[in-house]
Amino acid sequence: MADTFEPRNIVVTGGCGFIGSNFVRWVAREHPEVHVTVLDKLTYAGNPANIAGLPADRVELVVGDICDAGLVDGLVAGADAVVHYAAESHNDNSIADPAPFVRTNVEGTFTLIEACRRYGVRYHHVSTDEVYGDLALDDPARFTEETPYRPSSPYSSTKAASDMLVRAWVRTYGLAATISNCSNNYGPYQHVEKFIPRQITNIIDGVRPRLYGDGLNVRDWIHTEDHSSAVWAILTRGRIGETYLIGADGERSNADVLRAILRCMGQPEDAFDRVRDRPGHDRRYAIDPTKLRRELGWEPKLTDFSRGLAATVAWYCENEDWWRPAKEATEARYRAQGQ
Ligand code: NAD
Ligand code: TYD
Repeated sequence: MADTFEPRNIVVTGGCGFIGSNFVRWVAREHPEVHVTVLDKLTYAGNPANIAGLPADRVELVVGDICDAGLVDGLVAGADAVVHYAAESHNDNSIADPAPFVRTNVEGTFTLIEACRRYGVRYHHVSTDEVYGDLALDDPARFTEETPYRPSSPYSSTKAASDMLVRAWVRTYGLAATISNCSNNYGPYQHVEKFIPRQITNIIDGVRPRLYGDGLNVRDWIHTEDHSSAVWAILTRGRIGETYLIGADGERSNADVLRAILRCMGQPEDAFDRVRDRPGHDRRYAIDPTKLRRELGWEPKLTDFSRGLAATVAWYCENEDWWRPAKEATEARYRAQGQ
């Protein structure tokens, strides 16, 4: 097993978003010896409330853009690792307007890895399984670290481009980097534009949930806490230059997930509407996490999907103040797209 890297001062980009803020809370709880500087632009998807209440001497928020080379340089110079979550992250938005995806996901990653190269700082790149494109529903295969890149959407193509930059910087400049590609996350603090929170909050509002197309598309769900523990394992024990796939054997069709949400919220299982399919909609994602499990001994803990979903439903029911401000604008965007 690789030597353990023990970071004391990390920069977490996108630490006010869904998954980044879970990682920040996880590190604050599990590793009190670590100081975290969050760099976040606070776009529509970033919310400082996601990291509110953490000890101020250990978690600091810097509001700024990862494309701002001067700002990034100053932060990276004083850090011993960068964990890069910041991104434009929603497929439907990327179809409506891809420009911010190219800027943040590609140029932003470039800016960060240039700074890490300059100061010899360790870099972990958080990416998605969507870079591999999709699998057929009846294909026994799952994605592995060797699967060729075949992204379908503006979102996944910009994530794929950013992964490629990191790989090239490792090989050409010796950047001390690792990459992870994770499957679909769920849990608290996820923006109401995403599938699970959108349907839960629609039901709370008395609006029928919306299923794209035939609803047979499969996503491989992982609780965001398990994603955080995996990223920590890779950052501290992963081999430099390696890619690790993160997944928790959670394949489910969208229709099944929606029926589970409806059941959990006391609604009839057919109380939803089918709407226009997403253009280029990927059919199935599935992760083979063998390398991560074997090499680093990582195991997911929150693998009971029904329990995790029930806790997530409860969180949205109890935290309307958190999601309400974003709901109307999000639904207005969907209405304009016929979804
Ligand atoms: P999110 O949209 O909830 O959060 C993104 C965060 O990045 C926000 O806080 C936003 O303000 C910030 N941000 C955006 N542009 C920025 C910029 N130019 N400079 C600084 N900050 C900026 O996203 P998420 O769902 O938490 O995803 C986080 C990361 O994990 C992304 O890199 C995404 O590709 C990856 N990922 C997501 C999933 C998933 O299921 N959501 C799965 C695998 C990987
Ligand atoms: P999403 O949460 O956008 O994640 P991703 O596109 O990264 O997989 O969507 C998850 C799945 O749910 C995807 O197959 C699209 C589908 N979906 C719906 O059926 N209805 C919706 O309202 C949304 C937002 C998504």
